[in-house]
Amino acid sequence: MKKLASFYIRTYGCQMNELDSEMMVGILEKRGLQKINDEMAADLIIFNTCSIRDLAERKVLGKLGRLAKSCKRRPIIGIAGCMATSKKEKLFQKVDGIDFVIGPNNIHQLGTILDEIENDRTNIIHADPNFSHELDYTLAKRDDPVKAFVSIIRGCNKHCTYCIVPYARGPEVSRHPDEIVNECVQLAETGYKEITLLGQNVDSYGKDRPEWKSRLSDLLARLDPIEGLERIRFLTSHPVDITCDLMEAVRDLPKVCEYIHFPLQSGSTRVLNKMHRMYTRDEYDEKVALFREIVPNVSLGTDMIVGFPTETEEEFEKTKEALETIRFSHAFLFTYSARKGAPAARWKDDVPKEVKESRLQELLTIQERISNEQMQALLGQSVEVLVEGLSPKDPNIVRGRTRDWRNVLFPGSQKSIGTLQKVELTSFAHQTFIAKVV
Ligand code: SAH
Ligand code: SF4
Ligand code: F3S
Repeated sequence: MKKLASFYIRTYGCQMNELDSEMMVGILEKRGLQKINDEMAADLIIFNTCSIRDLAERKVLGKLGRLAKSCKRRPIIGIAGCMATSKKEKLFQKVDGIDFVIGPNNIHQLGTILDEIENDRTNIIHADPNFSHELDYTLAKRDDPVKAFVSIIRGCNKHCTYCIVPYARGPEVSRHPDEIVNECVQLAETGYKEITLLGQNVDSYGKDRPEWKSRLSDLLARLDPIEGLERIRFLTSHPVDITCDLMEAVRDLPKVCEYIHFPLQSGSTRVLNKMHRMYTRDEYDEKVALFREIVPNVSLGTDMIVGFPTETEEEFEKTKEALETIRFSHAFLFTYSARKGAPAARWKDDVPKEVKESRLQELLTIQERISNEQMQALLGQSVEVLVEGLSPKDPNIVRGRTRDWRNVLFPGSQKSIGTLQKVELTSFAHQTFIAKVV
């Protein structure tokens, strides 16, 4: 029987994976293992993986292959995250030296898996398609002292045709509102100032449990009065589910910030339909107009995919036009990547790689210009920043974000971490404002 004493964990992918890693760290530390930053020295290595695009998967597999070759002492290696459910036992064949595979719905079983490992079992796999409620979120061990992610709904029922998430994480399962409120009260008592409520479709919250009578807007109304909390965010909002009551909650609840991640994906209704996004371009534009009417200072963010199967040049022009006219404050732009298991993977991936790349470059150029124009227009204004930490480059400079999620650097010290500061925006570079305290 071998006893594991130290572990190294590396996280890929989205905020849900970051929170899942924090859960695993909590579970492992409770078991007495020590977290270390040197992967070569750890008894246990966990890669918490992402399957969203081919590149994300290849990065992990490449890294694992190199690690297995270079480690002299043989560590225990576990694969967690979305690749665990999307690839399952195939992972044992793909990379030598993997001991266990644990899916995002099985994190509560990490301890049992390690018991088996310590008793010399190997090739263990737990990768269930459905989430059970056995996960104890209070075990999460967070590194960040100011901001915390809080899971409110897991899984996704939307089945966009390009996307692997519904297969990797299973159907939507909401968390009881009392449990969420309790966790947020505890976080505030520990000193956390900002919480971000997480879900693949955060505004589907509660739809699977109508008896709770708790929509996202109802939950926000219960969280807003929590003493000590300064800011509340939530992501990601699906355009179909976002409704007036939520927009009004953003307007009326003082701690709920005015930045909404609200992915459009494509500017063309035909492409949106083929993506199974369930809204037309006009319907999306109407929701944007309504949101801006209800919350005039709201900032909107988007994700866009270029080169979806059959996307024509004219349809791509519509995506360009959407960026130009809607003017998002943040845009995350991707080239389509066929995911085995997602419906679109059965269609011919017919937009050539070079075309996808050049479309992506065009969007990046447009968004950079828009973002610069927006930042230029904000110069001279006084804004509220929550100080999140020291600048990595200068201990006399602090970093933080505005309510609408823009990065700001200004003079400050360790003492100001976790406080709200009024600053004047004086210049900007690389999507970050430079400011002075007023
Ligand atoms: N639940 C969120 C986002 C999930 S994944 C939503 O519905 O908006 C984050 C982003 O990755 C997506 O918004 C999409 O733009 C992108 N993405 C997902 N699958 C992809 C694929 N197969 N190829 C390229 N980009 C993809
Ligand atoms: Fe994927 Fe669509 Fe679900 Fe978002 S809503 S996770 S893009 S299937
Ligand atoms: Fe990736 Fe899974 Fe998140 S596929 S983006 S880690 S939900």
